[in-house]
Order: sequence, then structure tokens, then C-alpha cells
Amino acid sequence: MLRLECTNPKTPADLRVHIRWLIRRDMPEVMAIEREIFEFPWLEKDFIRCLRQRNCIGMVAEHEDRVVGFMIYELHNTRIQLLNFAVAADYRRRGVGSQMVAKLVNKLTPKRRNRLVLEIRESNWSGIQFFSAVGFRAVNVLRDFYDQDDTDEDAYVMVYRDKEATGGETK
Ligand SMILES: CC(C)(COP(=O)(O)OP(=O)(O)OC[C@H]1O[C@@H](n2cnc3c(N)ncnc32)[C@H](O)[C@@H]1OP(=O)(O)O)[C@@H](O)C(=O)NCCC(=O)NCCS
Repeated sequence: MLRLECTNPKTPADLRVHIRWLIRRDMPEVMAIEREIFEFPWLEKDFIRCLRQRNCIGMVAEHEDRVVGFMIYELHNTRIQLLNFAVAADYRRRGVGSQMVAKLVNKLTPKRRNRLVLEIRESNWSGIQFFSAVGFRAVNVLRDFYDQDDTDEDAYVMVYRDKEATGGETK
């Protein structure tokens, strides 16, 4: 498993990023990344609606005053549900996404909130590769999950389980 022991980069090629709460002022940069990446991007109002929920949290990864990644997730009693997760195209493969996942892993507790969960498009091969590389496993398929986009794509449910909660089993 890669680089999840702490939030610091592990190799010189990695970029050290500061991961902090998303604030309103970050929205233009977050929206620029969102629009650049996704075929079906969230609109700004989708972010705002989501972040208004008491259990919904947004974080950004910052490098030299630039937002280079972001993640939106919900806190549930037994899990953290990842809703949106992205790194700017020109900052990829430098450990930014891994540091963001590590930040979430540090929020898990063995007894209670012991897993990270997400749904990902079956066509998002690089996303699936990334989450597999950082310790997630595909556990389920949701048929026609993206109905509203008119794509009849399936989603994979991927889960990262806290090591202690699984008795240290290999992931
Ligand atoms: C998926 C994503 C977040 C990865 O971010 P990243 O900062 O590039 O990831 P890292 O540099 O931490 O990569 C860690 C490891 O994941 C794997 N990985 C990451 N991107 C990969 C890709 N495109 N293809 C294959 N493996 C990949 C590699 O094993 C990599 O380690 P390595 O670079 O030493 O080989 C980024 O590519 C992205 O924003 N994609 C578009 C949005 C998206 O798909 N989000 C997820 C669904 S919401």
C-alpha cells in the first residue's frame, strides 16, 4: 500500500501539500478543476447545497497558494462517504491524491467510523487504479447508477477499511 502512513510525501518526486478546510474563497479554483476534469461536473450550487449539510465537509490541497486538489465527503456514524475527489491535471502523479486519502484515513477510528466508501464510474479507469493503489477494494456494482446522466453506466462501490478494524488483514 502506498504512502498512507502519514500525510507527508514519501519520495522527493512527491509534492508537499497543505490540506485544509475549503472556504468560500476557494470556490473559483475548485470549480475550475471540477470543470476541467469531469464530463458531468457539479455546479457551484451543488457544492454549496452539499456543504450546507451539517455532516458534509470540503477540504482543499494547497501548494504555494494554489488550490491543486479538493475533496467533499460526508461523515456518517460508521463511515466516511466520499462524494467528490479531484487533483488538478498538471499536479497528478505527485502524491497529492495519496496525501488527501491519508488525511481521511487519519480520521478513521477502529471501533466506530472505520471505513471510507465511494462510488466510482466503471469507465473511470485511472480513478479506480488510484483508489486501488491507496488501499481501497471494489466490493459491489451498482447497475445504471448514473441514470440522470443518460449514460447507463454502472458504478463500483469501493471501500477502504481501517487496518485495526479488520484486525490488520491485508487489503
Ligand atoms: C484519481 C486522482 C485523484 C489521483 O490523484 P494523484 O494526485 O494523481 O494520485 P497520486 O499521485 O497520489 O497517485 C498514487 C498512486 O495511484 C496510482 N495512480 C494514480 N493515477 C493513476 C493513473 N492515471 N493510472 C494508473 N494508476 C494511477 C499509482 O499507483 C500512483 O502511484 P505512482 O504515481 O507512484 O505510480 C486524479 O487522477 C484525478 O483527479 N482524477 C480525475 C478525478 C477523479 O477521477 N476522481 C475520482 C472519482 S470522484
